[in-house]
Amino acid sequence: MHAVDIIAKKRDGLALSQEEINWFIDAYTTDALPDYQAAAFLMAVCIRGMNRQEISDLTLAMARSGEMLDLAKLLGGYAVDKHSSGGVGDKTTLVVLPLVASCGVPVAKMSGRGLGFSGGTLDKLESIHGFNVNLTTEQFEALARKNGLVLAGQSKDLAPADGKLYALRDVTGTVPSLPLIASSIMSKKLAAGANGIVLDVKMGEGAFMTSLEDARQLAQMMVDIGVDSGRDMIAVISDMNQPLGHAVGNALEMAEAIETLQGGGPSDFREHCLQVAAYMLRLAGQGQRWTDESEARALLDEHLDNGQALAKFRQMVAAQGGDVEMVDDPSKLPQATYQVDVTADEAGYIAQVSAKAVALAAFELGAGRERKGDPIDLAVGVKVHVKVGDQVGPGAKLATIYANDEGRLAACRKYLDEGITFHREPVAPLPLFYDTIMG
Ligand code: URA
Repeated sequence: MHAVDIIAKKRDGLALSQEEINWFIDAYTTDALPDYQAAAFLMAVCIRGMNRQEISDLTLAMARSGEMLDLAKLLGGYAVDKHSSGGVGDKTTLVVLPLVASCGVPVAKMSGRGLGFSGGTLDKLESIHGFNVNLTTEQFEALARKNGLVLAGQSKDLAPADGKLYALRDVTGTVPSLPLIASSIMSKKLAAGANGIVLDVKMGEGAFMTSLEDARQLAQMMVDIGVDSGRDMIAVISDMNQPLGHAVGNALEMAEAIETLQGGGPSDFREHCLQVAAYMLRLAGQGQRWTDESEARALLDEHLDNGQALAKFRQMVAAQGGDVEMVDDPSKLPQATYQVDVTADEAGYIAQVSAKAVALAAFELGAGRERKGDPIDLAVGVKVHVKVGDQVGPGAKLATIYANDEGRLAACRKYLDEGITFHREPVAPLPLFYDTIMG
C-alpha cells in the first residue's frame, strides 16, 4: 500500500477500508511514515469526515498500537470505567470511584494530568502529601485485586498512536474534528480494558463541545465505537457553562471531594456524582442487579451519608502512600497565603458564572500548566459561592480567591468580575444534564 493513495482517497471523500486504516496507523506508529503524510491524512479526515465503520476501525487500530489491558481478568469479573471529556471544577472521579467500589464493584482507573485550563485527576490526588500516582504495573494490579480500588497514571503505553497523532493535530489545526476526537478518547478507553464505560460528555462554554448538537454527536459517536467493539456504553451530556460544584483548583477540589464523601458538599456536585455512579452500577449489574435506578440511587446515597464511600477513599489513600490525616482533616491540605472575597456590587439574579472565566482566573493564580511538565501550585484556585439563578443582595459573597502571589490577584479578579454577571429579572437555573445516550 502507499500512503499517498490512502490520503488521496480520503481527500476525494471516499470511505477507507479496514486494511487501509490499519496499515496507515501501523506505519505511522512505527515511524515508517513522515509527519507530513500523517498531517495530510488528518486534514483530509477533518474536512471529509468518516463513516461509523471507518471511525470504529480507526479507533481499534489506535487502541491496538500499544498494550491492551484485560481489566475483567484483573478484577475477576465485569470491569467498569468512566471518562469525562474535561470540565472546570470536575472532581467527579475522586468521589465516584470510591463510591462505586464501596458498593462491591471494583474499579481500577488510569487518569491524566491537567493541561491548559482543564484540571487533571492526578494533580488533584497529589495535593494529598505522599500520594503515589506513579505505580508500576505490578503495584497497580496488586492494589486492584487487594482493595478493589486503584487510581493512578498510565503505567503502560496505552494507544501510543493517539499520542503521536494528537501532538500532530495540535499543530495542524485538526483537533476539532468529531471523528478524530471520538477515536482519540475511545482508543485509550478501549485499551484500558473495561467491559462497560460511562462517558461524561461536557457541553458549554467551559468545555470542548460548546453546542448541544456537537456534544450529542460526539457522545453518540463514542457510544457507537464502544458498542462496535463489544463494550456496554452509557453517555451523559452534562452542563459545563458554569463550574461543577464550588471549588476550582487542585487542593480546593480535593477538599470539596472529601466533603462530598463525608455526606456534604455542593448539591449540584453530589447529584452529578450520584448519577454517574448509578450508571456505573447499572452497567456492572449486567441486567441482573441494580436494574431499578432508584434502588441503585438509594444504595449510593446511603454510602455517601454513612461514611462507607469515605472509608474506601481513605483505604485507597493509605494504600498509595498518601497522608490519611489530610483526609481526616482537609484543613491540612496545602493552603494558600491570601484569601480574598469577591462581593456583589448590586442586588439581582446571577445570570452567568462563566466556567471559562473561572478556569482562567484559577490558571492566572498558577493552578494549571501551559505545557506538559510545567510545575503547578496545588494550593491556589477559586471557590465560587453562587450558581446561575441565585438571588443575591449587595455585598453578597460571590467568590473567594486563594492565592500565593499577591501580584496575580488583580488579573484573577478581573476574570471573575467579567465572568459573573447579573440580571434584574429572575433567571432560570441551568440543568445539570441535557441528555443520556444508551448503547
Ligand atoms: N481528549 C482526547 O483525549 N483527545 C481529543 O482529541 C480531545 C480530547
